[in-house]
Amino acid sequence: MVTATAPGKIILFGEHAVVYGRPAIASPLSQIRATAKIEAAQTPGVRLLAPDLDIEKSLETTLADGDAFGAAVQQVQAATGITELPPMTITVSSQIPIAGGLGSGAAITAAVIRALATFLGFADLAAPAWVSELTYEVEKIYHGTPSGIDNTVVAYEKPVYFVRQQPQNRIETFAVKRPLHLLVGDTGISSSTKLSVGDVRRQWQAAPSIFEALFDECGQIAEAARAAIENGDLALIGDLMNQNHLVLDKMTVSSPELDQLVEAAQQAGALGAKLSGGGRGGNMIALVTADTETAVRQVLLAAGAKHVLCSVIK
Ligand code: MEV
Repeated sequence: MVTATAPGKIILFGEHAVVYGRPAIASPLSQIRATAKIEAAQTPGVRLLAPDLDIEKSLETTLADGDAFGAAVQQVQAATGITELPPMTITVSSQIPIAGGLGSGAAITAAVIRALATFLGFADLAAPAWVSELTYEVEKIYHGTPSGIDNTVVAYEKPVYFVRQQPQNRIETFAVKRPLHLLVGDTGISSSTKLSVGDVRRQWQAAPSIFEALFDECGQIAEAARAAIENGDLALIGDLMNQNHLVLDKMTVSSPELDQLVEAAQQAGALGAKLSGGGRGGNMIALVTADTETAVRQVLLAAGAKHVLCSVIK
């Protein structure tokens, strides 16, 4: 039996603008993970089980249904040259809420790719860059025009500074001088990143100069944030989060529920807060200190957060 996992993720700075080549910063959310388990089977064929979703299908059915599971398997087959798969059962489970902006799709795909490569005897291939690249191919099928940041952060499982560019994305790790204590508050509202990214694209096409200026602003904020993280300037990081949220709001990707959680966190003493990921629902993040963490967590729950997780970036 082979098991592989991949974490959730949060975008600290630069979501949406990253699709248009501006820099962004993301970090893994390692305490919530997707897991893929593969066992050799006695009966022929490949079966895919996702008990949490009540899914039990053959590979042929997932391919016919156009599921990401099937696409992940196909990517591994194409990359390894294995056309005939041995009989197996692939079981997928995930603690990452679906459509919550926390990278659930990328994490499930990365876990399946890593597990299958290992099961087929290609463990040495399944390094982060390879897993990221194959996951990106699947993301492209299901998520429209992904920047590549989600697959990168879940495959490398490290905080990354990311710029989408040709011929190769810029992926850099960076020093974190003072740990960042983040609370991740879930609005409980499902929101499709594909739809919010598509909507931003339509608005950009209709008003390119306005949206280019908004993307530039996000890029400058992300750039300044990287320097502030490297210098350990927590107050500035918080300010930049607040600024980023306002720009995302101008892009129309916030929502009343996200604004409510962001404002509640700010009022309770968070150094900064913003939505994280595709927006229009899903999750927000707040930068806290040991002194403010309890108060901010309480107001987030009182303001309607369904769950609050803590993530420390070091
Ligand atoms: C989603 O985690 C981040 C977005 O910028 C989309 C993407 O980068 O592909 C909204």
